[in-house]
Amino acid sequence: MRLRLASLLAIMLLGAPANAGQFRPNRVPDAPYVPTPQSAVDAMLELAHVTSADIVYDLGSGDGRIPITAAKRYGAFGVGIEMDSLLIRRANDNLKQAGLGDRVRFVYGDLFETDISGATVVTLFLLPRLNQQLIPKFKRELRPGTRIVSHKFDMGDEWPPEQSHDVDGLMIYLWTIE
Ligand SMILES: C[S@@+](CC[C@H](N)C(=O)[O-])C[C@H]1O[C@@H](n2cnc3c(N)ncnc32)[C@H](O)[C@@H]1O
Repeated sequence: MRLRLASLLAIMLLGAPANAGQFRPNRVPDAPYVPTPQSAVDAMLELAHVTSADIVYDLGSGDGRIPITAAKRYGAFGVGIEMDSLLIRRANDNLKQAGLGDRVRFVYGDLFETDISGATVVTLFLLPRLNQQLIPKFKRELRPGTRIVSHKFDMGDEWPPEQSHDVDGLMIYLWTIE
């Protein structure tokens, strides 16, 4: 019986396509690609008090500038989640150029489907509706003390920010998971 189970498992594993489990987007990204200006990236990481002890997740990471800056300036670990394969490639090129090795990694996937429980800081530049849709995921997956910083959009009346700052005309917002 044990042998039969083992061979069944082996057949299942060997028979699986080489790219099994690989992400295949089934829709266009939920928000368009618009990069956060570097001055606002710096201000977001300052607002979250990022240190080398942090793991910074950028949800919809574009060219990777937020996790790369978090690693470069603060020695944090960075993770970017992005569903546009060209942007993943660009982010990995930028990472290579920054020479940060394995302090940052980019995940090709859907931010709604990806586990973010490893984050101590989450950064966002999405859309108001998406921020609001993410609230249950944040409350379910993030640990107490995790900071969330958003560029441009807050989370509506459901979850008012603790702080908001105007950075040269760009708004940034902070929340902390209780
Ligand atoms: C406004 S850009 C922000 C890029 C970067 N975070 C920054 O601030 O410079 C939003 C990014 O989210 C990505 N995106 C949108 N919906 C997504 C989803 N469901 N999963 C992963 N990435 C997504 C887009 O491809 C785009 O690169």
